[in-house]
Amino acid sequence: MLSRRTLLILGASAVALGGLGYARWPRLNAYNEEVARQREALANAPELAELVRYACLAANGHNTQPWMFRVDSQQIDILPDLTRGTEVVDPDHHHIFVSLGCAAENLVLTAAAHGRPADVEIMPGAETEIHVALARGGTQSSQLYDAIPLRQSTRSVYDGQALSLDDMRALEIAAQEDGVEVLFFTDAEQREAILDFVVAGNSQQIRDPAFVAELREWLRFSPNEAMTTRDGLFSACSGNPVLPNPLGGFMFDRFFTEEAENDKYRDHIRSSAGIAVFIGDRADPEHWIRVGRSFERFALQATALGIRTAHVNQPVEVESIRLEFANWLGQPDARPDLVIRFGHAPALPMSIRRPVEDVMVAGV
Ligand SMILES: Cc1cc2nc3c(=O)[nH]c(=O)nc-3n(C[C@H](O)[C@H](O)[C@H](O)COP(=O)(O)O)c2cc1C
Repeated sequence: MLSRRTLLILGASAVALGGLGYARWPRLNAYNEEVARQREALANAPELAELVRYACLAANGHNTQPWMFRVDSQQIDILPDLTRGTEVVDPDHHHIFVSLGCAAENLVLTAAAHGRPADVEIMPGAETEIHVALARGGTQSSQLYDAIPLRQSTRSVYDGQALSLDDMRALEIAAQEDGVEVLFFTDAEQREAILDFVVAGNSQQIRDPAFVAELREWLRFSPNEAMTTRDGLFSACSGNPVLPNPLGGFMFDRFFTEEAENDKYRDHIRSSAGIAVFIGDRADPEHWIRVGRSFERFALQATALGIRTAHVNQPVEVESIRLEFANWLGQPDARPDLVIRFGHAPALPMSIRRPVEDVMVAGV
């Protein structure tokens, strides 16, 4: 067993190594250029594939990008890609459908900004899909659309300051969606109570080797690895050191501990201005998609106001804790869907996406 002191020294060395190395990494420039290219502004009359590029910038669980797009001149369909599921953390594909809802929202905002007002229909079935019908009309630009290339999940310590009432109201309005309720918690006592659920969920997840193995599979420790797969969770995007893959894996195995992660979440939640909890009226793919649309608008509005957001979903990912959490929310029959902290902090590096060609299926 390594002593705590040895672990701390090793940890500090890793941070130093990662920090020192960050600017010198082979392919880091290529990574940054690729990420910037994926987020470039769209031309005035973009090809439909370009709308898909912006749809793919949406939030999505573990950055697996669990979607496919079927493009026709009048319609773009969004289909789940169940091969990109995370079966341990998301056994019923809840996160996949929330992610599809996030992508649908980006698509609707982008199409509207380019003279293609869109109508969304959720087609139920074993593999529920989303049909986005594109009409022709005037351009409806919006601050939410402008925020699409700038939105990110910011997994860092925030500045601890409260939001203004105007900003809180803007977030509440942006998140409004039929079939979805959003509860806001800003006072310290409520945040501590939610933190207890996060810590309890996190502890259970980290004690589960299958959860840790699945997470590790989606971690990308170096720009090389992130550029090769163009998916997953690149260390730099979570404020973690960038390391060669074998060393990254070694450090993860040593330092990804229940205690360290719980401490991190304490700092994260205590430094946030508040927490928003998203709850669909029903626990089915249609409502999970609605939750995704509501959350994506919330996150885009936050971005437009210079407010950061990050997921702390442990209370809804572990079933036994989810039931207790629903009770605490005063909604024992509901399935709470997302737990999101928000506040002010500097930006972190942006995450990468797969090429648009890779997420296209043959025409309708
Ligand atoms: C349904 C869903 C669940 C997520 N769960 C978590 C989570 O538990 N912890 C976390 O740090 N990020 C979570 N995320 C954020 C994703 O990891 C993130 O969106 C993805 O890596 C892409 O990065 P970006 O949001 O910066 O574009 C979740 C996102 C979605 C849509």
